[in-house]
Amino acid sequence: MNRNLFLVLSLVSVLLAACGKAVAAKSLGNPTEGEAIFNQAMIHEAPGCITCHSVEPNKVLIGPSLAGVATRAGQRVPGKSAVDYLRECIINPNAYVVEGFSTGVMYQSFGEVLDEGEINNLIAYLLTLE
Ligand code: HEC
Repeated sequence: MNRNLFLVLSLVSVLLAACGKAVAAKSLGNPTEGEAIFNQAMIHEAPGCITCHSVEPNKVLIGPSLAGVATRAGQRVPGKSAVDYLRECIINPNAYVVEGFSTGVMYQSFGEVLDEGEINNLIAYLLTLE
């Protein structure tokens, strides 16, 4: 194949892959609204994500930094997609406990406090933390 044509086709496929990812996150929920929820000190009667999680790399508050979580989420549990893993982290945090952290420390009742739309917006936001 002509080298320039090959380069152009490679570039197009990279761009398409990037857009596809953004579209997938968007159709699930709204990342901007998810970020706003994430940054609240309190979410309804629950402690906010930001009180335990930084999004700065390696900065541990009470929970692990969520920098790069979009990249590792799909590899945490074999056979579990990033979206399914992140949903489980929110509604059932003890199902998978991050190495070096203890069971039961993350607030356990987000599944009752948050509605489906809020959870989807949060997941869409977490998927932007690559
Ligand atoms: C009271 C502190 C606390 C709050 C509040 C909290 N978390 Fe956590 N979270 C933790 C701890 C501790 C862990 C590590 C232990 C575990 O996996 O359960 C964790 C783990 C996670 C993980 C897994 C990260 C990874 O690298 O696999 C995600 C994702 C997560 N939390 C998202 C959230 C979101 C979203 C919110 C807000 C809706 C939230 N957390 C609120 C303490 C908290």
